[in-house]
Amino acid sequence: MKKTIAVIGLGKLGASIALSIASRGYQVVGVDVVKKRVDAINSGTAHLDEPGYAQLLKKYKQNITATTDARKAIEQSDITFIVVPTPSHKNGSFANSYVLQAVKNIGQALQKKTSFHVVAVVSTVMPGSSIKYILPALEKISHKRCGIDFGYCYNPTFVALGNVIQNYLSPDLVLIGESDIKSGDILEKFYQNLVINRPQIKRMNLINAEITKLALNTYITTKISYANMLTQLCDALPGADVAVVTGALGHDLRIGHKYLSGGLPYGGPCFPRDNKALTAVGKKHRIRLPLAQATDRINRSHLHFVIKKIEHYLIPSATVGIIGLTYKENTSVLDEASGLKIAQALIKKNYSIKAYNLPLIKLVGRIHIDKKIELCQTVEELVQQADLIIVTTRTKEYVSQITRGLIKKVNNTIIIDSWRILPIEKLPKSATVIYLGKSS
Ligand SMILES: NC(=O)c1ccc[n+]([C@@H]2O[C@H](COP(=O)([O-])OP(=O)(O)OC[C@H]3O[C@@H](n4cnc5c(N)ncnc54)[C@H](O)[C@@H]3O)[C@@H](O)[C@H]2O)c1
Repeated sequence: MKKTIAVIGLGKLGASIALSIASRGYQVVGVDVVKKRVDAINSGTAHLDEPGYAQLLKKYKQNITATTDARKAIEQSDITFIVVPTPSHKNGSFANSYVLQAVKNIGQALQKKTSFHVVAVVSTVMPGSSIKYILPALEKISHKRCGIDFGYCYNPTFVALGNVIQNYLSPDLVLIGESDIKSGDILEKFYQNLVINRPQIKRMNLINAEITKLALNTYITTKISYANMLTQLCDALPGADVAVVTGALGHDLRIGHKYLSGGLPYGGPCFPRDNKALTAVGKKHRIRLPLAQATDRINRSHLHFVIKKIEHYLIPSATVGIIGLTYKENTSVLDEASGLKIAQALIKKNYSIKAYNLPLIKLVGRIHIDKKIELCQTVEELVQQADLIIVTTRTKEYVSQITRGLIKKVNNTIIIDSWRILPIEKLPKSATVIYLGKSS
């Protein structure tokens, strides 16, 4: 018989994880302190705009329930995943307060449990947190011993917003940090039944798993900053083109093409903060980690480079159109989003901003966006009204929409194409395209 799963925290990651598990035939009990998220799941209403979420909820509603009562959920389940926030402190380290609050409720429920229950933390925590804070709290509150009466794992997932369900159910890597072999065995078996591919399942001790989680994201951010360093170099050297350079580099299998395009800075709720957290771990242990610091510095200075480039082409009181305001396609998340940051910088300099972003348009009225950013309903509308356009998205489907908008225009339009998606030969002559990372 399949195990019953509890998921504590039904936010951007937790709700999608809970539903993904339910879609594989498990009974899932979701827990959140925010009642409207609980009610949404129980009534079959999607509270996230994650692709596929609404459809899965409709199809597998009978496999998932939600409650605000964590203790009841633990009593009914065999494995509990904790997916609550771990907000960043000023120094870049993560706070454990929400995890420890969840642990308090779990520990109380464990007091009464006779079966072996595995608690798995998915939230990103600082290396050392499991051994120093989370496990001792669980043992103290439950009056039970880890590895004998209950199990503990640190089990972060490597998913990207906009692709959470797909990434979670067909991961490249399943990372299991285990306090004891029995807990690791239970979690490994769970994943073998859950996923639809054959990923590498890597089991290790807790500290190695905590470091691996941060190291993986930081490796990717380093690669992005490296590509963006080349973007700036190619932008300055006559005849150079970053797409040609990184395109060739990526063919070397030691390097690979992924995250090596060169274009805009990285953003979102994970990459920037995980990178800073690695620096913070180093500082705490009096070790300098200059690569993580340089990656972050390049990321920030790259944004200034992009903004300066835009300003170079702007006339006073111009209207700027931004296609893609969120940190990436398929999401309404604005955390550390280049599109939004560019808009904010230009607003400060009194430029008018129009933006197009499909996921945001669907959420108008439910999401807060600076009133000075006017959302257009279509790409064509934006193109017609803007003097200069910045394309922050890589979605090729916008090419035809931009072209249609340009055809109806008489004035010359400057387009800054961050990821070089626009084929100049197909655009009307009135468009001047500036490719980021390609000298003009
Ligand atoms: N969003 C991502 O793509 C992603 C990817 C990898 C890792 N993570 C990590 O996962 C964790 C959660 O991220 P998120 O983006 O889902 O956060 P979120 O803020 O979107 O959601 C967290 C949810 O937890 C709930 N919550 C808080 N305290 C609770 C408690 N004691 N009991 C029950 N529910 C509680 C909140 O109400 C909220 O619904 C973070 O540590 C984050 O770093 C997120």
